[in-house]
Amino acid sequence: MTFQGKKVVVTGAAGFIGSNLTDSLLELGAEVVGIDNLFNGRTENLDEARKNKNFQFHKGDVRDLSFLLDMFEETDFVYHEAAFASVPQSVKMPENCHDVNVNGIMNVLNAARRMDVKKVIFASSSSVYGEIPDLKKNEEMRRVPISPYGAAKLACEAYMYVFYHVYGLKTTSLRYFNVYGPRQRDDSPYTGVIAIWFNRARNNQNLIVFGDGEQSRDFTYVKDVIQANLLAGEKDVPGEIINIGAGNPISLNDLGRLILKLTDREHLKLEYTDPRPGDIKHSFADLTKAQEMLNFQPKYTQEEGLREYFKWYIEKNNIDLEIH
Ligand code: UD1
Repeated sequence: MTFQGKKVVVTGAAGFIGSNLTDSLLELGAEVVGIDNLFNGRTENLDEARKNKNFQFHKGDVRDLSFLLDMFEETDFVYHEAAFASVPQSVKMPENCHDVNVNGIMNVLNAARRMDVKKVIFASSSSVYGEIPDLKKNEEMRRVPISPYGAAKLACEAYMYVFYHVYGLKTTSLRYFNVYGPRQRDDSPYTGVIAIWFNRARNNQNLIVFGDGEQSRDFTYVKDVIQANLLAGEKDVPGEIINIGAGNPISLNDLGRLILKLTDREHLKLEYTDPRPGDIKHSFADLTKAQEMLNFQPKYTQEEGLREYFKWYIEKNNIDLEIH
């Protein structure tokens, strides 16, 4: 029982991935300290967690070292999910992206080292691969980020490795591929395409496609990402960087048609506009390393994940819509 009675700090705990991870860790018997600056995170994401006596929440920022030192006292695991998470927003505000992501991880790692945290697991991103032309991405490939966001995540991975190599802090980076699912923000232009398109479809609006829609993504259901995080906590894989995806990419054109089918909105259209700066063309996870090192196997196909997510959304918001 890796997490039973262990103290786990989750940064970004009120966010989409952080809150789902918090709930799973609590179910496994961990004592979870959730921290979040509530910039993107929402307190309602922690409604479930707050019912558990093993959960505490502290509002604070990962750019504040003394706050982290305080939080990391006697900590077994740190899951670093707090981030500036949008590619197009990073193109608009590169300094902010750098500040939150790179200065943030420097503090997290320094605090973890000084407080003798046993393991740090970090939410990296497939955006580090950037313009590598190969369809399927494996961890040995070159990384050529093409957005400030991708560059920042690559710098974070480098610091994760260096803190293992130089100081012996056990760090593992998980490269997430387009995560979606319950609690992803639905009210921001900077959120993921699935949340944006589902909202448009249910409101009877055409779906806006940036570019020709032939770009592809390996959309990964959040429950699979949580499974990977728990496995990374259980296994001893320090210094490693591991892809976490669905292993099943889909073009944006096909995704749009699938969302219109599931929501019974096939009369709506895909409307094409200019490509988005910083956008990579194809993103498809080679999961060999995740299988070998973590025994990770995604459980959700895209259609299953989308159905579960849309049903959750409809029930939560009391919407009159049937998923087909
Ligand atoms: C996403 C994540 C990022 C993560 C990365 C890799 C979000 C907000 N971003 O970036 O944190 O590190 O995956 O896991 O979840 N698109 C449209 N129409 C729209 C919106 C988007 O055509 O209305 C297109 C985009 O141009 C892009 C694709 O959809 O080609 C995916 O975009 P998006 O959901 O923003 O994700 P990524 O930029 O891939």
